[in-house]
Amino acid sequence: MSGKQKIVVLTGAGMSAESGINTFRDSDGLWEGHDVMEVASPQGFAKNPELVLDFYNQRRRQLLEVSPNAGHKALVDLEKWFDVNIVTQNVDNLHEQAGSSRVVHLHGELFKVRSTANENHVLTWKKDLILGDLDENGHQLRPHIVWFGEMVPMLKPAIDITLNADILIIIGTSMQVYPAASLINYVSDQVPIYFVDPKPSVAKSDFKNLTVIPKTAVNGVPNLVAELSDMVT
Ligand code: APR
Repeated sequence: MSGKQKIVVLTGAGMSAESGINTFRDSDGLWEGHDVMEVASPQGFAKNPELVLDFYNQRRRQLLEVSPNAGHKALVDLEKWFDVNIVTQNVDNLHEQAGSSRVVHLHGELFKVRSTANENHVLTWKKDLILGDLDENGHQLRPHIVWFGEMVPMLKPAIDITLNADILIIIGTSMQVYPAASLINYVSDQVPIYFVDPKPSVAKSDFKNLTVIPKTAVNGVPNLVAELSDMVT
């Protein structure tokens, strides 16, 4: 036991926006020019596996070129004073690149793939994935991404972590995708909630202990981390 207060940080696409990765729901409902169901559903993969693999290959290549921003880095500093667990909806690895110690990926990870025959058979993958890339049992590999309509295996660990939070920070998410958005309901009304997002979707009237910080991750998170550290030092 560290004796430190426990902070849970729920992050969404806005966390990585200033690193150069597009968010999902900003403009036309398309995701990098595609209907989301075409590239992020089991049905889409069954219909056109090449398109889906190509889509994630492009995103994987993009990830090789981006870096954590000041928001990601501030969350690493937070570990000096608090026991920090990050629950991210993002499939990038920018929290890990920045140096955060504990990160749960609710929606999978771009730099991992898994067997289409066994969801527990997960491999690290930084190159392009093509049809014909097989696991050692001869099964096609697929992106290790939670697609629409699929189970969210990391939900249970995320709920358990959130139930123990002394403080909840939410950064850069539209809170439209469930079950991720439901995590806010797993803290008691005694737990302070900070919501950093330039277009916050949660209002003060919804949660007794909510502080809304209508700023971007880069502008809002370092200040919040400084304020929280002041409270315990
Ligand atoms: N800093 C902080 N927040 C930002 C920034 C920024 N620089 N830019 C945009 N935002 C906010 C937007 O205001 C919005 O509230 O980030 C949020 C992005 O929302 P979405 O695009 O809906 O992303 P997210 O909530 O993470 O989506 C959830 O949907 O498609 C699925 O699986 C995908 O994990 C994703 C899930």
